[in-house]
Amino acid sequence: MENSRFKRTLITTALPYANGPVHIGHLAGVYVPADIYARYLRLKGEDVVMIGGSDEHGVPITLKARNEGVTPQDIVDRYHRIIKDSMEGLGITFDIYSRTTSKIHSETASEFFRHLYDKGEFIEQTSMQLYDEQAGQFLADRYVTGECPHCHAQGAYGDQCEKCGTSLAATDLIGPHSAITGSVPVLRETHHWYLPLDRWQDKLEKWILDGHKEWKTNVYGQCKSWLDMGLQPRAVSRDLSWGVPVPVEGAEGKVLYVWFDAPIGYISNTKELLPDSWEKYWKDPETRVINFIGKDNIVFHCIVFPAMLMAYGDNYQLPDNVPANEFLNLEGDKISTSRNWAVWLHEYLADFPGKQDVLRYVLTANAPETKDNDFTWRDFQARNNNELVAILGNFVNRAIVLTHKYFNGKVPERGELEAVDSDVFAELAAIKKSLGDNLDNFHFREALREAMNMARLGNKYLQETEPWKLAKTDMGRVATILNVAIEICANLAIAFEPFTPFMSGRLAKMLGMGKMTWDSLGSDSVVAAGTQLSEPQLLFEKIEDDAIQAQIDRLKLIKQENQVKSWKPEPQAADVDFETFMKADLRVGTVLECEKVPKADKLLRFLIDDGLEKRTIVSGIAKYYQPEELVGRQVCFIANLPPRKLKGIVSQGMILSAEDADGRLVVISPSAQVSPGAQVK
Ligand code: 2FM
Ligand code: ZN
Repeated sequence: MENSRFKRTLITTALPYANGPVHIGHLAGVYVPADIYARYLRLKGEDVVMIGGSDEHGVPITLKARNEGVTPQDIVDRYHRIIKDSMEGLGITFDIYSRTTSKIHSETASEFFRHLYDKGEFIEQTSMQLYDEQAGQFLADRYVTGECPHCHAQGAYGDQCEKCGTSLAATDLIGPHSAITGSVPVLRETHHWYLPLDRWQDKLEKWILDGHKEWKTNVYGQCKSWLDMGLQPRAVSRDLSWGVPVPVEGAEGKVLYVWFDAPIGYISNTKELLPDSWEKYWKDPETRVINFIGKDNIVFHCIVFPAMLMAYGDNYQLPDNVPANEFLNLEGDKISTSRNWAVWLHEYLADFPGKQDVLRYVLTANAPETKDNDFTWRDFQARNNNELVAILGNFVNRAIVLTHKYFNGKVPERGELEAVDSDVFAELAAIKKSLGDNLDNFHFREALREAMNMARLGNKYLQETEPWKLAKTDMGRVATILNVAIEICANLAIAFEPFTPFMSGRLAKMLGMGKMTWDSLGSDSVVAAGTQLSEPQLLFEKIEDDAIQAQIDRLKLIKQENQVKSWKPEPQAADVDFETFMKADLRVGTVLECEKVPKADKLLRFLIDDGLEKRTIVSGIAKYYQPEELVGRQVCFIANLPPRKLKGIVSQGMILSAEDADGRLVVISPSAQVSPGAQVK
């Protein structure tokens, strides 16, 4: 923080909802970049605190509990544990990872509300809300489903239609139903407290639009568009039983809106971590607050929470930056907890033990910093095999193996430097500079590329100097080259520490390095001559096709399951008059022969005994049956269709099949043996 007005940094990370485990989208968007940044500042020896925790309130948690027949507390206990353990497993270095059901949090959130209430910072308003008379409760938006007024899909939620994506008000739905009892809700008057954001419009404009032009364009742009639309009062309470009770008389049955209490979680978690010094991190202008979030959280962190902090007063510091990321997709589709379309962190850690760094590396190399990006398993494999193994791992291994071969693993003294050696040190210093600049500006992808350039530099250096060729003639020169190569390795250990800390730790140990610091990065003397290196271990290993195929197959299965779950029969076709229908001559025949049609992967050729003669029928069911399993079976077919030529074969009719939810075709057969030619009536 040289030349800066700040003395310390408070890093907050969006609190994930404890209604499911965390997935790669959360990691790429928030936790991996936050951890890189925190580790970088710690390497620089700065005063930094990184705050995390689970967001344990909100309607989706109560709905999940209801569906499973357990309490909301059971749900959050389950997922809080999974999230906390898996983040730790990935090496995300929270100074605290707590939860919004903690006592200190409800006290802090309650006090925050009460303070604003006492200062007259809220307005109270009545409105009409949907009420379930059978359940005796108001219905949060997610508790109401009905027909979407825009695309007319059934099952749209009271806040959004998932089919067409339109934002809705529960009262917009056609034919609304309560998700609790299924009954038709009625409108009933209720009252809530609203934070009049319009009162803060001018201050927010000045602070963001004039004061933070350096923010990422996606963040600045979203703020500007909210501000340009003109801010409106926002309700900060809900009629619900799960949450922090509204601490005001006459507010029975009301809790703080989850988006009111969640960001206060950053404060309560800091208090829990530092009961005596937490205020320094929140109220001292020499503290720099950075909020790491995903793009769907921008308005809450840049508009709503800052307005809450300004309304509170008492010198609460607003964020200095909010480096929000865009979204990460998975194999071309939006990640979704409810559709199980995700790579879950706890499952990854179980499937790829010891490969935390690979995931951290891939999510950073492909981070959705400026636009949505896609995670694919093939890219994951390619980045591991072609970058981590082939570039980084390969260089380090060569340098250490050669040092063992020629110097029994003792770092040799170096002699006079040649130009090629000095160039290396100049390059290391230049990379350090641009690595630091990129990290300071939250350009983590670019920063990682710079770190990788260091490994490229190492490979190029060995390629150019070819110490193995000099071993017979000039051991002095070999000593210098390997001394320089080991210095590159040591620089790599430091440069990669924020990104792939497990590898860095192992490498530093192999090199006998002490505490890694940013100061020593870029220098030519991280490892002293004479240091004994330990036996070389491979830093990364190749990931084989079968491990990747298993993941791809798992996703394929999930896609099929989702297709079946969301399947609905086609709406009934238009009426047909009886006479027309009776003209179709439907019959049963016995399959005498069945074989694949050459050069047509969908078609089977049947020879059918129809009681009168043998007829040929071609049918498009080859994907679902082996020809031999159909021989001897009885099938239904339409007998009086005009003959049709398919792949050169004349087909005399059509075999009837049912198309199942997953698109599979199943042949229709009589339930008992009948005489061939029997009519279907
Ligand atoms: O979008 C989410 O997952 C929210 N649970 C984030 C909350 S961030 C903060 F305000 F706590
Ligand atoms: Zn719709």
